[in-house]
Amino acid sequence: MQKALGNFVLILSIVFAACNNTETKNAATSDSTTVDSSASQLPSAKNFENLIDGKQTALYILKNGNMQVLVTNYGARVVSIIVPDKNDKPTDVALGYASVQPYAEGGDTYFGAIVGRYGNRIAKGKFKLNGKEYMLATNNGVNSLHGGNKGFSRVVWDAQQTSDSSVTLTYVSKSGEEGYPGNLTSKVTYIVGKNNQLKINYEATTDSATVLNLTNHTYFNLNGQGSGTINDHLVMINASTYTPVDSTLIPTGKIEPVKGTPFDFTIATAIGSRVNDSSNTQIKYGRGYDHNFVLNTKGNINEKAAEVVGDESGIVMDVYTTQPGLQFYGGNFMDGSHTLKGGKKDDHRNAFCMETQHYPDSPNQPNFPSTELKPGEKYSSTTIYSFSVKQ
Ligand code: GLA
Repeated sequence: MQKALGNFVLILSIVFAACNNTETKNAATSDSTTVDSSASQLPSAKNFENLIDGKQTALYILKNGNMQVLVTNYGARVVSIIVPDKNDKPTDVALGYASVQPYAEGGDTYFGAIVGRYGNRIAKGKFKLNGKEYMLATNNGVNSLHGGNKGFSRVVWDAQQTSDSSVTLTYVSKSGEEGYPGNLTSKVTYIVGKNNQLKINYEATTDSATVLNLTNHTYFNLNGQGSGTINDHLVMINASTYTPVDSTLIPTGKIEPVKGTPFDFTIATAIGSRVNDSSNTQIKYGRGYDHNFVLNTKGNINEKAAEVVGDESGIVMDVYTTQPGLQFYGGNFMDGSHTLKGGKKDDHRNAFCMETQHYPDSPNQPNFPSTELKPGEKYSSTTIYSFSVKQ
């Protein structure tokens, strides 16, 4: 144990010593270490230095104790989350790329991104607010997904590293961008807390009424990114009900019990045990899990919303949030067409997302909690991903 801990500290020191950039101090590099662990495949800060849309991109490294989180201001994305596994081996549990370019090229996978202005789908890209109809960019069949063509995940945010363990990113979305009303200022702060916690604080204000649903779209594999299927991970979701969808993944408006369905995760269950239940229409529509769960926690951040255990690593991730919903996505659209840091492909169901949020299509669903933000109001929400190990 002592020795393992020593090794862990040594590996971290090597990685930290490899920082070679003054502007993005604390940035990590992969070139200078040959340690055989997924954490040795940390991307180089240099690979994130670029000018995109006339703005500087960079990599920020946050650390506290045994945990490191790498963040880029391109899409305010989490690039890596490194935590110890049950043998104290530093393990990168977040999928991402080795440089900034792939995030900006090709179709968006939303790896690690902050999605907005509206996370998840708005039916037919339309909604009414105060009697006026708005037409959004439609980028997912007939629907608008994750804010539209670029949303908040393909823009450069302003970043300020406020300490060794925190960075604040700001993005001003102009009125009319992707079809949304209101000049909206969003601020996202990533904080690596003591005891291996990643806390995400979201804040926003607008100058005229709009709708807003910010979330983080990190793809997790608790056995280490690129290590294979997540179907043997055990998942608990503290939700007695969920919002079933139509074939385009728009909620029907009903809130239905999970009991007796493959959506009952109130007791920890392997993701893969029911994911191919073709007799279930909802599983068919989602091609697996891609559904919003109505959290029993009702916005109480002190109660656990979800828990996931990596079957090989013993890494446990607990989710706490002020949000009322959780989109559990099982990587059904992953198809191996992207190369991750470390060289592995993003194969089918090799990662999952736990997107804390308001329910999809809320602007068109009168019985869902409102996602409207008015001028003079302050939007604020917090989500914590907390890591530990089970032997
Ligand atoms: C969300 C959606 C999914 C999919 C992924 C990104 O989780 O609900 O349908 O679009 O994002 O591929």
